[in-house]
Amino acid sequence: MASVLEKEIKKGIRLHDFYYLGKDLYCEKVRVREIVESVGTPVYIYSHRTIVEHYRKLAKAFRSVRPLICYSMKANSNLAILKSLIAEGAGLDIVSGGELYRALRAGCDPAKIVYAGVGKTKAEIEEAIRAGILLFNVESVPELGAIHRVAQSLKKKVQVSLRVNPGVDPNTHAYIATGKAESKFGLDLDTAHAIFVKREEYPSLSICGIHVHIGSQIVTGEPFIKALRKVLIFIASLEKEGYAIRYLNLGGGLGIIYSDERPQTADEFAKELLPLIGKKKFRLIFEPGRFIVGNGGILVTKVLYVKQTTMKNFAIVDAGMNDLIRPTLYDSHHEIWSLEKDEKKKKWVYDVVGPVCESGDFLARDRHLQEVQAGEPLALLSAGAYGFSMSSNYNARPRAAEVLVKGKEYFVVRKRETYEELIRGERIPSFLQSK
Ligand code: LLP
Repeated sequence: MASVLEKEIKKGIRLHDFYYLGKDLYCEKVRVREIVESVGTPVYIYSHRTIVEHYRKLAKAFRSVRPLICYSMKANSNLAILKSLIAEGAGLDIVSGGELYRALRAGCDPAKIVYAGVGKTKAEIEEAIRAGILLFNVESVPELGAIHRVAQSLKKKVQVSLRVNPGVDPNTHAYIATGKAESKFGLDLDTAHAIFVKREEYPSLSICGIHVHIGSQIVTGEPFIKALRKVLIFIASLEKEGYAIRYLNLGGGLGIIYSDERPQTADEFAKELLPLIGKKKFRLIFEPGRFIVGNGGILVTKVLYVKQTTMKNFAIVDAGMNDLIRPTLYDSHHEIWSLEKDEKKKKWVYDVVGPVCESGDFLARDRHLQEVQAGEPLALLSAGAYGFSMSSNYNARPRAAEVLVKGKEYFVVRKRETYEELIRGERIPSFLQSK
């Protein structure tokens, strides 16, 4: 049975806190046009409520085991978003020294930070150890050695989880599938076991956790269950051999609605997972990114020109692949809503394309949209995750502004970049300086 939300999404009238009131598109209690008029376009607009609610849904669904939910900040690392989630009790999942810096600047308790990624540098490892993070998620034997050596030189004992690769196909886009055997991520179970056997060789490490993340935008519970079953069997065999496991980190990957997906809810997810976990002694950790912020953001862009060719109607807009690269990179779908819905207007088929000089610079192709006009703003939905955080300055385009809406108020949480900021840090070598 379709839920009320599903029906509303199908009709194109609501996605969580983005909805039409009369003709106008709102975010929470603010008319989106009002933001666009004062901040301009392109602009990312986030709903504080949608974001916080998604965190709460997951926390509530798993409350019986009190997991540590480390928001995966690569999805969207704006300080205001981090602070909103930290205030709810979230920890953070980081993958770089830069993310550690942002996490600490946002006031995250280091004891709630977990650090993943296949290529941590010595400097990054040292910064994280000095900060006192909870766990490193280790992805290879040489990395384990590197963390051990840095810990030894700092005279610290450091907690480590081994990221295992369970060889499960998550049925998602190839670029965001990470748990298959040929992936660069994680350790196979035999190698992970061998590390436990040799753990005496790493006296500065406490190897006390298992981490698994099989991919992203996974809409059914099945791949998670398959991976969990494999990992639980592995943990049971480790425990039999006397190795204590204190943390089981199940990663992120929960899918969201982009068009007609029907992803599992947090409750459905918990109902499937919790019976398998039972009353185990380890602390459960999750690292959701997209699930928390994905539906909580839109990208608003303005139509610059409508161009008709013999083959196509192009709506040329002021946001490009540098602002939202997901359609180009993954052929991903983002719903496009007008700021003023008018059922009487004709529908046309458009390619919505950006100003960047690349054929791959499109936001939507062959999309049925209410007739658009130059000057009109359009909203791309479900752009809260991997939108701004993957944006770039390609074509020397300043990055978009970001706005956070809370109730009746809105706040610019990142100013639009200036031209001056585009060249920050660049230097003209002396031989090119005019005398
Ligand atoms: N944990 C680890 C170890 C990860 O690698 C990721 C995402 C997450 C957690 C969070 O995954 P999520 O809950 O957001 O699915 N740029 C792509 C997604 C890349 C995901 C990378 N890793 C996209 O736009 O779809």
